[in-house]
Amino acid sequence: MTTRNVSRRTVLQGAAALAALEMFRARLPAQAAQQNRYGKVRLTRSTHAPLSPLAFPSRPGEEVLPWLDQPAPNPVPEIVGTLLTWEDLDSWITPNDKFFTVKHFDLPAIDSQAWRLTIDGLVGRSLTLSLDDLMARPRQEVDFTLECSGNTGLPFLIGAIGNATWAGTPLAPILQEAGVLDEGIEVVFWGSDFGVGEVNEVEVNEQYGRSMSLEDAMDPRNILCYSMNGEPLPAEHGGPVRLIAPGWFGVANVKWLDRIELLDTRYQGRFMAREYVTMREAEQNGQTVARYTSVGRDLLKSAPAKVTRLDGDYRIVGAAWGSPIASVEVQVDGGEWLQANLDEGQGADQAWTIWSLDWSQLAEGEHAITSRAIDTEGNTQPAMDDPLIANKLTFWESNGQITRRVFIGDRPFPDTGYTLSGPFLAFWLEHGGLRIFGNPITAEFEEQSVVDGQTYRVQYLERQRFELHPGSAAAYGVQLGLLGVESLPGDEPYPRAEPHNGSGCEYLEPTGHNVCGRFREFWHQHGGLAIFGYPITEEFEMELDGPSRTVQYFERARFEHHPERQAPNDVLLGLLGYELLDRRGG
Ligand code: MTE
Repeated sequence: MTTRNVSRRTVLQGAAALAALEMFRARLPAQAAQQNRYGKVRLTRSTHAPLSPLAFPSRPGEEVLPWLDQPAPNPVPEIVGTLLTWEDLDSWITPNDKFFTVKHFDLPAIDSQAWRLTIDGLVGRSLTLSLDDLMARPRQEVDFTLECSGNTGLPFLIGAIGNATWAGTPLAPILQEAGVLDEGIEVVFWGSDFGVGEVNEVEVNEQYGRSMSLEDAMDPRNILCYSMNGEPLPAEHGGPVRLIAPGWFGVANVKWLDRIELLDTRYQGRFMAREYVTMREAEQNGQTVARYTSVGRDLLKSAPAKVTRLDGDYRIVGAAWGSPIASVEVQVDGGEWLQANLDEGQGADQAWTIWSLDWSQLAEGEHAITSRAIDTEGNTQPAMDDPLIANKLTFWESNGQITRRVFIGDRPFPDTGYTLSGPFLAFWLEHGGLRIFGNPITAEFEEQSVVDGQTYRVQYLERQRFELHPGSAAAYGVQLGLLGVESLPGDEPYPRAEPHNGSGCEYLEPTGHNVCGRFREFWHQHGGLAIFGYPITEEFEMELDGPSRTVQYFERARFEHHPERQAPNDVLLGLLGYELLDRRGG
């Protein structure tokens, strides 16, 4: 902290402060000066007529086709909470309870009546403001799409984005009132959340903090936000008060604000300089070297959100954000780029634009859908092989073009009168079809799992139950039901066995059973652990509608040996789909 005498401080007050503010304004990018193009950002009264908001491109009665490439399960639920499920996107504004959350420490307990915000450090006059003080000041609203800078950089993290109307009071006049000293060049926003971390084997207690240059902090778009979509700012989203810095990645939008501190030097904290740091390879002095930059402003980006079907007509819907959007183009299966319609949000500077493309030329099968956004300055969202993306060594700030996969078509099964479609059909085709799973014996329906109590979209087949697990790492988001576990005869788990030392056997320690011979070959050949799970019995003899057969139960199947059939068709999966439905009176 400075030891300079207060009397020598140059306090920005009165005319000097206004002149300084004008200087900050003059240096703002052109788009900041004309905030009201969408009619919601109210910096100054707009002279523009607000654009008429277009509707979200939904059609009553349409069906959403789940993407084949579902995100992996969230490995860090204590940090990343809610995430957007793209297939569910049906409104321009993301409702508060569906808005993604990211927090690095425990949720701080804050009494909003007792809460105070301190503005201190290199200021002429420290301020302490209550929530009522902030609410008594001029109110400013902004429609702003908040995106975590890790979004689409990791297999589980594709829904860390949402769009809300944030309301609060502008930050700049408050800094101006505090009178930033000449030496004050850096503004640190401290959250109320703390946690112990380890840095170079030293244990440290750290507080969430992010900083901006004074010039960036004075941007008239920044607000001390106390309201989200018309409701008091929810605790998970930083209530009672957070910084909303439109145009910056999520990490800069500090939640649970506690203190704003002016420094005379760059601030280097965990979330500025240790994490949220992008590392890129660059050529320098004839060598390839790594360069580091702290995560900063939003980047031009778009993503396909969903494919819908109505009476055989398909529509691709998506969103584009990160920069004012001029157009969006869509590519199917690497073909020509097609111009999408811009729908709700068109013309918004800080919020996403929803786009859509009606898609009629369809062949049954799997399709890859890629989108790219073009902004009003003519920049195009980079392709995945663009050096900007390809030379990036860290997952932050991943704004490369996003490709999603969808399966079009229904396959009728005349033997049973049912059809398979979408991810279930794709999975059935990929993993062995009729021979392995048999015919479908029900339509798709929602069923509560007897194993984990969750409700899944399921479909029974003769030898299996397909379950759609959004958030599953398995290809297509499809998992097989735990039919082995659910239909194992007897109430007791089968006791663990000793490892067989004989050749041709493999001992699976987690459940304590051996897999041998033809069953072992079949298990490996058709997907092993990922598809069938671990063995839960040894081989044993079982009467199955007549002859006794050698069988073995796995978590998700019963293997049966049929010696009357020639290899490789001598191993079949048991008719567990039938047996289970039959037992449940289906
Ligand atoms: N602010 C504090 N105090 N603590 C945090 O952990 N996480 C940041 C940012 N602000 C964070 C924070 C990150 S990484 C993101 S992406 C956004 O908050 C997420 O905001 P949300 O949870 O309201 O969606």
